[in-house]
This record gives sequence, C-alpha cells and structure tokens, in this order.
Amino acid sequence: MSQAPTARILIADDQPDVLEALRLLLKGEGYATEAVKSPAAVIKAVEANDYALVLMDLNYARDTTSGQEGLELLQKLQGLDATLPVVVMTAWASVDVAVEAMRRGARDFVTKPWDNPRLLAIIRNQLELGSAVRAYRRLEQENELLRGSGKAGPALLAQSAAMRPVLEVIARVGPSDANILITGENGTGKGLVAQALHAVSLRAGKPFISVNMGGLPEGVFESELFGHVRGAFTDAKADRAGRFELADGGTLFLDEIGNIPLSQQAKMLRTIETGEFERVGSSRTYRASVRLISATNADLAAEVAAGKFRQDLLFRLNTIQLHLPPLRERREDIELLAQHFLKQHVTRYRKGITGFDEGALQALRDYSWPGNVRELDHSVERGVLMAPGKVIRAPDLGLNAGQAVPRLEEMSIEEVEAFLIKKTLARCDGNARKAAEELGLSRSAFYRRLEKYGL
Ligand SMILES: Nc1ncnc2c1ncn2[C@@H]1O[C@H](COP(=O)(O)OP(=O)(O)OP(=O)(O)O)[C@@H](O)[C@H]1O
Ligand SMILES: [Mg+2]
Repeated sequence: MSQAPTARILIADDQPDVLEALRLLLKGEGYATEAVKSPAAVIKAVEANDYALVLMDLNYARDTTSGQEGLELLQKLQGLDATLPVVVMTAWASVDVAVEAMRRGARDFVTKPWDNPRLLAIIRNQLELGSAVRAYRRLEQENELLRGSGKAGPALLAQSAAMRPVLEVIARVGPSDANILITGENGTGKGLVAQALHAVSLRAGKPFISVNMGGLPEGVFESELFGHVRGAFTDAKADRAGRFELADGGTLFLDEIGNIPLSQQAKMLRTIETGEFERVGSSRTYRASVRLISATNADLAAEVAAGKFRQDLLFRLNTIQLHLPPLRERREDIELLAQHFLKQHVTRYRKGITGFDEGALQALRDYSWPGNVRELDHSVERGVLMAPGKVIRAPDLGLNAGQAVPRLEEMSIEEVEAFLIKKTLARCDGNARKAAEELGLSRSAFYRRLEKYGL
C-alpha cells in the first residue's frame, strides 16, 4: 500500500522536550507534524484539520499518571472520527492504562522512554492500516444501499443492547493486530466472531487457519502446530507445514484453548512471543507473522489458579477479552436469528414455509436456550423439516418445555408457587425435607402444597 510521503501527524504531550524530540524524529522520516500541549488543543486541531494519525500522551496535568485525561480524550476523538488512527504513549509502569486505551479505540501504544525504530514501525503500520480502513469504510458506505444482505464475511446478527459492546470491540480492535480471547458458553458464536474479527482486519485477504485444541491428541499436538520433517516419526512420510506456518501473514484461531496440555504451553508461549518455531525433527528455526484469536468456554483464570494453565500464556492471549453473552441474556436477538436460520433451511431443504405462527414465536422467546444460538439454529431446522403446513408451530420446534422460563407476569400466584416448589425439589434431588427447609416452610405446610399441586 502506498502512503503519501507527507502524511500529517498530530503529536500531543504536555512536555516541550518530548514534543521536540518527536517532531525531529518524524520530520526526519518525511512526515509533516503539528504539536499541541493539551487535550482541548487536540480536539480543536482534529476538528479543523485532516490528520493521518494522532500520537498522544495519556497524561497532561503534571504528576498525574492515571491516564484519565487521555482516556477521556480518546473517547472524544472516537466520537469525532472513529477511523482516525490514534497511537498512545504511556509511562512504563502503566501498561494497564495502555490496554484500557486499546479497548477505547487506540490502535497501538508505546511506552516511554520509547524506542525510535519501534515507534516508527508502529506509525508506518498504523498509517497503512488507517488508509485501508478508511478506504474500506468508504466502500462500505457507498455500497450500503446496494448491498442488502449479501455482505462479504459471515453475517453476525445482533440488535440487542447486550451485543453492542461486542460489535464495538470488533469494529475497534478487529483492524489491529492485538491478540483476542473470546469467551462464552457453547454455541454463543465464538467461532463466528473470530471470523468476523479476521474479516475486518488488514489480514483479511490472507489465510484464516483454525485449530481445535480440544481435538488434538497430545502426541500430534506439536506436529500439527509447528509442522514436521520427513522421518521425524514413523508416520512422517514427507515434510509438512504446521498451522502456525500456514497462518503466516493471516490469523490463527485457537479454538478451545483451555485444552492445551500443560506440557505444551511453554512451547506455545515462546512461539507467541517471538514468532519463532521449529518443525518437529528439525533444528531450523522458522518465523511466522500471525495474529492470534483464541476461544474458550472455560474460566481460564480458575484454570490458572488450579495450576492447569500458565498465567504468562493467558496474559499473551487475552490482550483484549471479548465476552459473548448467552442467548437468554439477549432475547431481543432471538427472532432476528430465527428468521435468518429459517431462510437458510428453507432454501437448503426447498420447503415452501413462510414463517412462524404466534405460538412458535412465543415458544422461541420463552425458552431458556442452554445451547444458545447453535441450539436455536437446530430447532429452526427441525421446525422446517417437521412443519406439515406453510408455517412452523410451537410443537414442530421440539423444544423441551421443561426448559421454558415462565414469564412471571403472566402467571397466577398458584402457578408461581408450584413452579418454585418444582424447581427447589429438583435442585435438592427430590429430597423433600431439604426443599422445605430451603423454602422456609414447615414439613406439613410443604406436603400440603405438594398435594395441592399434584406433585
Ligand atoms: N450472531 C449470530 N448471527 C448469526 N449466526 C450466528 C450468530 N451467533 C452464532 N451463529 C451461528 O450459530 C452457530 C454456532 O456458533 P459458533 O459455532 O460460532 O459458536 P461457538 O461459541 O464457537 O460454539 P462452541 O463453544 O460450541 O464451539 C454457527 O452456525 C454460527 O454461524
Ligand atoms: Mg466454536
């Protein structure tokens, strides 16, 4: 990608000597620079001019190191122009603040005192990325009207408030090279989000390579990831590249990362830190430039506490953590997703089904969805196959009624009481004495109710 030789860069810091040093450094590289000393001046400059990049300190009032002013400034800049690349500078000790800055839209950070070659590399990289992102956004806006639903990349459907932060992180952090850890229950869309992150990145034209860490027997782990040479072991009939090598220039998606055997974690850590690895059976060192996205439904912090997962590895993987809420916490998305899956399955099975009846929609809304979006997809598929007529009815969906979350506002007091007793009994494995105790009822009062509700 070619970059106009005189990209304009805005530098902001409250210390004149820092500004001067940066100005000289950037001028030497052929950039045009402007320097300002306060957050207010940054806003004014960005409103008035078109910059290719902003390089800014996070602290302005002397003797503060919280970065609060810088973080607020970032937010305002995002509001003015979300495509403007911002690189932040921060003191060595405040890497946490830098990470927070990345969450709020900074594209990268450098710690002070900075290393000139590294700072210049970051700036070059972000200028390139910035112009690509801007070109992409323009194209996207131009295509908005024509596009309809045939968008490139996977369709990630979400209109709920609970999913808004997820979409924001994808838009902000997707284009950077930050490593991202996606967490969430089974079927919440972690794999899909990983693809979406790749699709909005500059690596989009390069490979997206996925490895399921849960499915790799310990014996083949190393050769799968790093490759092997002929003769390295009995079955190694030819040289073979591993997933790291295949993903060079692109994205490597490590699914079910919680399942990496402890014995392999040190090797992974080294490759992530240096980009270097050896094929099994060879001592030649290879390098790969890989952006890592990982996913897990496990609680990795707990795994770390239990000594099953290396903390240093976790810190490398979760520069940005992205949590996908379960479907039961984003019910506004259910119908949107159901209609989407309906269209897919109707096409696939060539059925003349036009929609859901009201009872089916109600059942979809009320169900608790322990299997999340994947389960919804499967229920709709079942509905398409089972419906005898043109619309899908509740029984066609095959939902387990016991999993439905009753809507309290639509229940009588008796129904609520019966529901509560049933649930408590189930939780106490049918032990009536324990259930009575939990509900604060005497044994006789409890039995009277069991009888009343025919339980
Ligand atoms: N927001 C969404 N919009 C459209 N389709 C979705 C969405 N979320 C999930 N899906 C679809 O639901 C299915 C399950 O999603 P996915 O495989 O990404 O979940 P997962 O979190 O990776 O599950 P697991 O933990 O079991 O691997 C996929 O077919 C995916 O395309
Ligand atoms: Mg998955």
